[in-house]
Amino acid sequence: MLEHEGRTTFRIDYAPLFRTALLLTGYFMVSLFVLAVAGKDGPSDPTLVGKDLWQRNNCVSCHALVGLGGHIGPDLTNAFSRRGEGYIRYVLNNGSQKMPAFRLSTAEQNALIAYLKAIDSTSIYPLKSYDGPVFGQSKTSPYKH
Ligand code: HEC
Repeated sequence: MLEHEGRTTFRIDYAPLFRTALLLTGYFMVSLFVLAVAGKDGPSDPTLVGKDLWQRNNCVSCHALVGLGGHIGPDLTNAFSRRGEGYIRYVLNNGSQKMPAFRLSTAEQNALIAYLKAIDSTSIYPLKSYDGPVFGQSKTSPYKH
């Protein structure tokens, strides 16, 4: 409240209002940025996209990876190095007597292949035979069953 030439005038202090508006705008812009970057539906790494497709298309109902999964089709742990990319693409496009053909885009096929390649590069299946002692089972083990 100010006294000016006998009149009383009121002045609104706009500063807090301005600060709040600025804060809200900033919050809104950061939210937009986070949504644009992280809010995409699903992962962007092709290997993870491939894993997602593996699950969504139920490959696992017929195929196992490192022995886990279905057994109507062969275990695909090392399909990438055993069969190669072209063969996998062919099977996906054409299916077989016991496997349905899948209508997948090239990008989706690439992602599935990237996933199978990643599994192939980290795992070997079936397991190699092993003659050494197995904990709890070898003759020399003190633990009897
Ligand atoms: C209904 C069962 C079924 C489903 C679902 C299925 N497959 Fe198959 N798949 C098979 C069978 C069975 C074979 C072996 C070929 C044959 O005997 O006809 C095979 C073969 C393959 C092969 C060739 C393996 C080799 O070593 O010859 C690949 C690669 C493959 N499938 C990938 C996939 C992928 C990826 C998916 C999911 C998108 C999938 N399959 C879904 C049954 C299935």
